Amino acid sequence: MAVLPILHHPDPRLRIKARPVVDFGESLQRLIDDMFETMYDAPGVGLAATQVGVDLRVAVMDAGGDGQPDPQVLINPVIVEASDKQEMDEGCLSVPEVGDKVQRYNKLKLQALDRHGKLYEVEVEGLRAQAIQHEIDHLDGKLYIDYLSSLKRERILKKLRKLAARDAA
Ligand code: NI
Repeated sequence: MAVLPILHHPDPRLRIKARPVVDFGESLQRLIDDMFETMYDAPGVGLAATQVGVDLRVAVMDAGGDGQPDPQVLINPVIVEASDKQEMDEGCLSVPEVGDKVQRYNKLKLQALDRHGKLYEVEVEGLRAQAIQHEIDHLDGKLYIDYLSSLKRERILKKLRKLAARDAA
């Protein structure tokens, strides 16, 4: 397993709409393991393949939060029902050191494939529901900052450019 480099906004690769997974072979299994290691290392609640420069509809999540690991793999995920829109605090590993409030559905029903290609359906709420919407957005080339005002987005971009300059120094 390996920790993969996470792309940061405004990297254009974060804007690619990822392709559905059709091959559940060894390279997908390695990708999933590496994504989990990268997410836990960051640490983060979720990570989409788009964020590590891989053009496939794969995301990993762990929204356990109570000390118990709860790893979840989402492949070709689809939200089939959503309700109870709320404002939630959100952040992203590709937009480091900042966060803001975003409208998300608090409850949803998800259909996705597991790492072996088996279809599953779950009903989730709260942080899990929020993280699923966030990760599916990544797979569609979207970032949570797209929902903010252009003024806020501009401020975030400035801050990220400063951070990048600091890290390069
Ligand atoms: Ni993110």
